Amino acid sequence: MSGLSASPVSTADAATGAGPRHVAIIMDGNGRWAKRRFLPRVAGHRAGAEAVRVTVKAAADMGLKALTLYAFSSENWRRSTEEVSDLMGLLRHYLRKEIAGMDRNGIRLRTIGNIDGLDNELINLVREGVERTKNNRRLDFVLALNYGAQDEMVRAIRDIATDVQSGVLAPEDIDPAAIEARLDTSDLPPLDLLIRTSGERRLSNFLLWQAAYAELLFVDTLWPDFDGEALAAAIADFGTRERRFGGR
Ligand code: FPP
Repeated sequence: MSGLSASPVSTADAATGAGPRHVAIIMDGNGRWAKRRFLPRVAGHRAGAEAVRVTVKAAADMGLKALTLYAFSSENWRRSTEEVSDLMGLLRHYLRKEIAGMDRNGIRLRTIGNIDGLDNELINLVREGVERTKNNRRLDFVLALNYGAQDEMVRAIRDIATDVQSGVLAPEDIDPAAIEARLDTSDLPPLDLLIRTSGERRLSNFLLWQAAYAELLFVDTLWPDFDGEALAAAIADFGTRERRFGGR
């Protein structure tokens, strides 16, 4: 507890004690993990994909309702052609291999981001996975693919502008709910906890709107070393936070 805190701990109106329903992770550190082992970057991404598999299973077992992972940002296209192609290949491989297991475990695959910008094979794998798992309810596993929060907001604002132009929406009816309804995350639970691995302390254009009242956690663990134990530790840390949502 910070010594600067002006008011005593209040449990009456804060959502303390309850576990997070929706956790999001900026998976960072694959490259450094590989470098430390004198391996090519792709080896770090491969190990990162295994950490994804383990963490998704753990999230379902721990009773989370939604887990959103930043798999490929709208800015990641700036990486070398080789690395982009490696990441796309890994995503295709992951989806081919894991969808059946996700389905068996009651996990529903979702995506956020502009998936139209991906290659057709990946788009088809995503669509098949989403369709196959659509009736599952245990955990929403949300892959952020070609996702950028600013891009998401631009798409939402364009949608609002179109509705205003056609007379469906009055400008005075534009409120946070109207914006939220047009974000990619509109039917997910509110974001409770946002984790970034590898010691970096930035949001990197991830879930900027949704993070308004999320708890932030920056851990030094490199993403390939993240696992169920690390997720449990993050959830325990969340349990110590006092959430006020702007109130006292
Ligand atoms: C950051 O590590 C990670 C990414 C760019 C994307 C995350 C991708 C994966 C975990 C692999 C595939 C994903 C799935 C869902 C199967 P970095 O390369 O920026 O690490 P560095 O900062 O140490 O260089």
